[in-house]
Amino acid sequence: MLEVHKAVFPVAGIDTRFLPATKASPKEMLPVIDKPLIQYAVEEAIAAGITELIFVTGRGKRVIEDHFDESYEVEHVLKARGKQCLVDLVHSITPPEVKCIYVRQAEPLGLGHAVLCAEKLIGDEPFAVLLADDLLDGQPPVLAQMVHLFSHYDSSVLAVEEFESYDASSHGVVGGQHWDERVISVSSIVEKPSPEAALSSFGAAGRYVLMPSIFEHLHSLKPAANEEIQLTLAIHSMLKDEQVLAYEFVGKRYDCGTKLGYLQATVDFALRHAEVHDAFGTWLRERVRGMQPDPGVQPQAH
Ligand code: UTP
Repeated sequence: MLEVHKAVFPVAGIDTRFLPATKASPKEMLPVIDKPLIQYAVEEAIAAGITELIFVTGRGKRVIEDHFDESYEVEHVLKARGKQCLVDLVHSITPPEVKCIYVRQAEPLGLGHAVLCAEKLIGDEPFAVLLADDLLDGQPPVLAQMVHLFSHYDSSVLAVEEFESYDASSHGVVGGQHWDERVISVSSIVEKPSPEAALSSFGAAGRYVLMPSIFEHLHSLKPAANEEIQLTLAIHSMLKDEQVLAYEFVGKRYDCGTKLGYLQATVDFALRHAEVHDAFGTWLRERVRGMQPDPGVQPQAH
């Protein structure tokens, strides 16, 4: 039975959708309440048994390294002020048995290219890929669900979710045969098709468990100059040689690469955050009540 110990976090994108917030700071450091997106993804990976975290970084992403590093100055000041629980909070971001490794993608040449940058560090083992701007909220954590399925079938597994048909153009969309309620044997995958060309209503959701053979397929892609290397195309190429499964995970996806998804995550997480859920819930209910049209006033016909 194959095991998954390594995870790749591609964080070298150019983050255009959150400009100007992401001009000097990566989108993966945007907080949902008090934790950056990348930390949610790292915690999900660790909960799935991952012990080696490989971050593919780019320009302006240094702050991610700092976030997972020791912070002696901050800890020293907090200790001196007697704030031990805050010391523990910043100290325990990654447990000691977990190793963080950073590799640089010199140019943002696409997600497939970012994964290729980690090839030497992965070697000949299966590995996970987590896109931190997809915040997946599941119990058990979504990557743990996927690793479980992977170890059962020894096949690559892609997380998918059902989407509205008009939304096909923002997903990698899979086609294939349902094996059971949640598992699809993939026969095709297409990156961001038009709604008419979509193979199904199941789209990739930012989590992958991949066989190392993906690297051969990434190498065999021949993108035109200035064209990105797409992970989706390499997965499609893999289908000629081996089985790939799509898994409709148990949980909820927040697309925090978009403003709407980011706001939805913020509200849902705030409504169950130990410190603010009461006060925020009360405020939100009043706010929503204030937005209802007054039942005594009829809408005007124009
Ligand atoms: P996106 O498609 O969301 O692109 O990348 P982006 O540049 O991050 O953001 P927008 O669309 O311009 O706002 C999906 C994931 O792939 C990583 C990104 O960091 C993100 O996690 N990525 C993308 C890379 O690491 N390198 C790349 O060349 C492209």
